[in-house]
Amino acid sequence: MAANQLQNIKTPSLLLEHERVRRNSKRMTKFAMRNIVRLRPHVKTHKCIEVARIQTEGHDGAITVSTLAEARAFAEHGFDDITYAVPVEHGKFDDAIEILRSGVKLNLLTDDADTVKKLDEVSGRAGVKFDLFLKIDCGTHRVGVEPDTKEAIEIPRLISDAKNLNFAGILTHAGHSYDVRTNEQILEVARHERDSMVALAERLRSQGIEVPTVSIGSTPTMSLIDDLKGIDEIRPGNYIFFDNFQATIGSCTFEDTALTVLAAVIHKSAKKLVIDAGAIALSKDRGPVGLDPDCGYGRVLDLDGTDTGMRVTAMSQEHGSVTGEGIEKFKVGDRVRILAYHS
Ligand SMILES: Cc1ncc(COP(=O)(O)O)c(C=O)c1O
Repeated sequence: MAANQLQNIKTPSLLLEHERVRRNSKRMTKFAMRNIVRLRPHVKTHKCIEVARIQTEGHDGAITVSTLAEARAFAEHGFDDITYAVPVEHGKFDDAIEILRSGVKLNLLTDDADTVKKLDEVSGRAGVKFDLFLKIDCGTHRVGVEPDTKEAIEIPRLISDAKNLNFAGILTHAGHSYDVRTNEQILEVARHERDSMVALAERLRSQGIEVPTVSIGSTPTMSLIDDLKGIDEIRPGNYIFFDNFQATIGSCTFEDTALTVLAAVIHKSAKKLVIDAGAIALSKDRGPVGLDPDCGYGRVLDLDGTDTGMRVTAMSQEHGSVTGEGIEKFKVGDRVRILAYHS
């Protein structure tokens, strides 16, 4: 979109560069095809049917979601193979059963033996059968069982033996790939994510447990990993837009970032500008503070997308404060684009 067209759009507005979205999508699809793995993109980044269709062009349409509300919405629009990639608990069983009964393959995950037993009972009573993954913790330490533990064998056995469940396989997400500082470190996390899962799958198979799917993936690790031998499925999501964070840690270049927020200057003083995009429009997610302590909340670009060097350095709900060299060139009513840290 030409810079002069951006003068007529209300602010704050989300701007998507369509060509970049398509390019990011094609690149990850090709990468998956080259490595002969299923791409099951995470759609929580956008929660948007049209973008999910771009992401799944040319493959089987499988997606990953982070809430059952997302699962329901995408199911209603024809996505019929969905992994709800947050551990399930019994308060969500009824909703999950309803979605499954609508004709969708809804895959669940757990890291808890009691939940396996409860889900088996409830599924039996409802006359349904879920595909259930074991969630593995490959270093993020958020949820999941560690691959070297006895639970990593016992829970898959429990699922495999359950009457009303299919053991879907093992699934992990290397969220700690966001905490590193260099490409080499991302690659190290990526190789560990892959290798720890391949090793666990081998252990399970050696004990007679079938492992249909080994599922891994975050955007940083899938952007840099070299080889996916032993992996069946990858689930990156953010790669479709990328963002300031990914470009700063090296998962992509700034030319790959597809999402910015158009904002207007609403106040000017000697030390700062204030724009009409605050925490609601940009999110309070910080950048990689370890890499750049002064990263603030976003880069300020001009309407052509060139970095002005100014940063969003403070925010309240609907106000963003912009500081840095160059503020004198702007006046109230001028427009800028913000490249936020988290798309
Ligand atoms: C379980 C799971 N899988 C996949 C993803 C996608 O990773 P990313 O956001 O790095 O693309 C996430 C994101 O949080 C996740 O939690």
